Amino acid sequence: MTDDTKTSNAMWGGRFAAGPDAIMEAINASISFDKRLYAQDIRGSRAHAAMLAATGILTHSDAEAIGEGLLTVLSEIEAGDFPFSTALEDIHMNVEARLKALIGEPAGRLHTARSRNDQVATDFRLWVRDQADAAITSLTALMKVLVAQAEQGADWVMPGFTHLQTAQPVTWGHHMMAYVEMFARDRSRFEDARKRMNECPLGSAALAGTGFPIDRHMTAQALGFDRPMANSLDGVSDRDFALEFLSSAAICAVHLSRLAEELVIWSSAQFRFVAMSDKWSTGSSIMPQKRNPDAAELIRAKIGRVLGAAVALFTVMKGLPLAYSKDMQEDKEQVFDAADTLMLALAAMTGMMSDLTVNTGKLEAAASSGFSTATDLADWLVREAGLPFRDAHHVTGSLVALAEKKGCDLPDLSLEELKSAHPALTEAVYSVLGVHNSVASRQSYGGTAPDQVRAQVARWQGLLA
Ligand code: ARG
Repeated sequence: MTDDTKTSNAMWGGRFAAGPDAIMEAINASISFDKRLYAQDIRGSRAHAAMLAATGILTHSDAEAIGEGLLTVLSEIEAGDFPFSTALEDIHMNVEARLKALIGEPAGRLHTARSRNDQVATDFRLWVRDQADAAITSLTALMKVLVAQAEQGADWVMPGFTHLQTAQPVTWGHHMMAYVEMFARDRSRFEDARKRMNECPLGSAALAGTGFPIDRHMTAQALGFDRPMANSLDGVSDRDFALEFLSSAAICAVHLSRLAEELVIWSSAQFRFVAMSDKWSTGSSIMPQKRNPDAAELIRAKIGRVLGAAVALFTVMKGLPLAYSKDMQEDKEQVFDAADTLMLALAAMTGMMSDLTVNTGKLEAAASSGFSTATDLADWLVREAGLPFRDAHHVTGSLVALAEKKGCDLPDLSLEELKSAHPALTEAVYSVLGVHNSVASRQSYGGTAPDQVRAQVARWQGLLA
């Protein structure tokens, strides 16, 4: 032991070999993760410097040296040979220190009328805005693939489930279009969030604004924002844009997870409704027959990370007094991980769905079993024989019980057997017991009839073109 302040402490030294100042550095620094904001940071600083020159706060020659120097820093970082330093805490100070080394004195003037508080709020908004755009693009790609699936299978009959029990026949196209609707709402949530987040915090300074005659409209415009944020305290201290992004991401991940779960079920040996291509499945190291739907399973699981990120940031933000608190540095890793996870899951789902083999024979056979047209039989009794629905339900129930006892399906019962349940039943009822007739009859708006599905496919093809 040579220097008490640098060696491990008797109380907590078991875990930490380093002294307290190094631990402070470890908990305080964010450069290990916020270096991902380098492009946004440099873009924001360039806009700020140009504005300082335009308003006469900086000389044009200083602003030009800063602007050029920042481009050099950008290319150094992009070339991968930038000396990131933990001692310099974060991306903002790393960039500025390097600028100082490159251009000298004018670098010190860049931070006029600005604080790291409005700087980080601006950088992070720019980053999250890009991710909202990426989510919108990825969701559009996924929707296109699902619409194509729906178009080819607009009249493929499959069992529709409630409680994962066979309920009524539906069409593959109908099932695919259900997800198109969900992902469309997800997309519009990102679009909405993007609109609200598109205001610029830069120029809020530390919290109270600044006495320098800055032009916040100019920087807002240069950075592609609709307008500057109207309150400087709000500008530096809210992270609701990140919370909205995470909330939208979490809902989207729930939808992805449900589709993923269906793919896991449908690709099992008991179902065999679909087969994933080799590209999207893995084998087992011990069981040669296995084709595991790993990508679908992982998409199903990744909601955990996205939702976890949302819960974490909500928890960080709740109860924070205005304005900036260092707590807010904890916003980035959560959003980075959630965004990476969501983009990966969207890309994997799009790939899997565009490459899926659908076993239409299996779908139809499954649709025809499990008394899936029992409701059609009951509806026929209401329509053709004027029975109240509750009575028709009862009659049909007795026929299902009979078929079950005989080990056959409803269309296999003889007319005599049908009549024994209710005399109004005639030969004509057999037409509604077939699954194709069943789905074709569901013509209500939004129903599963192939005509309805094709109309929705056409509508979405128009919207996505
Ligand atoms: N690294 C910090 C963050 O992410 C930047 C802002 C620091 N501001 C301050 N007043 N210490 O929040």
